[in-house]
Amino acid sequence: MAHRRHILLVTFPAQGHINPSLQFAKKLTRMGVEVTFATSLSAHSRMSSTLATTKGLNFASFSDGYDDGFKLTDDARHFMSSIRNHGSESVKHILRSSAEKGRPISCVVYTLLLPWVAEVARELRVPSSLLWIQPASVLDIYYYYFNGYGEAINTCLDDPSWSIQLPGLPRLHARDLPSFILPTCHEMYSFALPSFKEQLDALDADEKPTVLVNSFDALELEALKAIKKLELIAIGPVLPSAFLDGKDLSDTSVGGDLFLKSRNYKDWLDSQTQNSVIYISFGSILTLSKPQMNEIGKGLLKSGKPFLWVIRNKESESEEDKLSCMGELEEQGMIVPWCSQLEVLSHPALGCFVTHCGWNSTLESLVSGVPIVAFPHWTDQTTNAKLIEDVWKTGVRVNGNEEGMVDGDEVDRCIKAVIGNEELRRNAKKWGDLAREAICEGGSSDKNLKAFVEHVDPQFC
Ligand code: UDX
Repeated sequence: MAHRRHILLVTFPAQGHINPSLQFAKKLTRMGVEVTFATSLSAHSRMSSTLATTKGLNFASFSDGYDDGFKLTDDARHFMSSIRNHGSESVKHILRSSAEKGRPISCVVYTLLLPWVAEVARELRVPSSLLWIQPASVLDIYYYYFNGYGEAINTCLDDPSWSIQLPGLPRLHARDLPSFILPTCHEMYSFALPSFKEQLDALDADEKPTVLVNSFDALELEALKAIKKLELIAIGPVLPSAFLDGKDLSDTSVGGDLFLKSRNYKDWLDSQTQNSVIYISFGSILTLSKPQMNEIGKGLLKSGKPFLWVIRNKESESEEDKLSCMGELEEQGMIVPWCSQLEVLSHPALGCFVTHCGWNSTLESLVSGVPIVAFPHWTDQTTNAKLIEDVWKTGVRVNGNEEGMVDGDEVDRCIKAVIGNEELRRNAKKWGDLAREAICEGGSSDKNLKAFVEHVDPQFC
């Protein structure tokens, strides 16, 4: 009997991983593929309840041992081993029970930080592919770090003028490298680098390793081809259909709807003039120090521009956590605990996006044609900021002091350099148009994804 293609998508339980994976899952279902989406219970509980009715999309959540969610105060190493132990058993169970029910999994796709999924898939003889939710350039840097350039990179802090030329990438200075490979990387994140190494080793063990990348050919042409041993397949940007190809206009939300408590910002945006509003958001994980938040506040006040600033609840829990100039800020702009970011970015009032350069935020800003004040903090964000400023030329990067603190004057300088800068806006629009082209029928990402799906053997098992 012919089976329908059935993909198991296993996702790390962080919002920045869940969002693109869910969009990818929905895209696959629109292509007639059945998808079982597996992530931890805590991440699943944050997802929109409306997803349950998406045809062809099933959910299989599992306990990762942290059912109330991982907190930044928890031990990251313990969490990583807990999700591995619990997750391996769950993934095995899903693979076996799907086969028993007559709906065998034809391919397992998994996001980063879960290299053990590839091992489980291999053990049960099911093909697997990595879904890389950061730019191809960042994967390349990790690859080179473990293949010939590690020693050179490890010396980068000894010489302030240090830079390196890696194949297929622009010349990189130390501040452009992903923070996890820098000798200064905080002990708390020391779990990350071994996980990337294990990931690359797992791919190496595959006969024909394929990596699906949330990017598109025109954006990272050389970086996508740089590693001969890996087939990097650009299938992005994977964003809600309503903002890209318009195939599903009801598909507007990237993440969970639990956060969407404050919707009156839309009326406020409607009342602002075109290209005038600064939108500030640092994604779903990052918590800035109070002094840093106060400096941003000072910069916003100095700029004199209207702004919409996402300050997640965790960042302002108590009275002492309140910003020093809160009263003045609330007169000039609006502070919300969360918003529908893509809707905000595509609003005509938007003038610029002050972002930590998480990859989803970066892609969303390119697709919306909004220029960027790049304010990176850690992981891939530093490399993304380099690409934004020097390669795609859609933004300006902030300069911090030796401790990494960015003062109010610098925030104001960058806002003024970006808002109303027609060249940056033109470039952003160009990349947005190219992204839509890639995703539309016959575009590069569309063709790449179709070829990948064709390749998934429904008869497998
Ligand atoms: C994490 C890492 O920090 C990032 O560097 C990596 O590239 C992806 O994983 P995160 O920090 O959450 O992600 O940032 P980002 O990738 O930008 O994802 C945030 C997502 O939350 C975006 O899709 C954004 O649209 C959404 N968001 C954010 C909202 O919908 N509303 C908000 O108010 C803020």
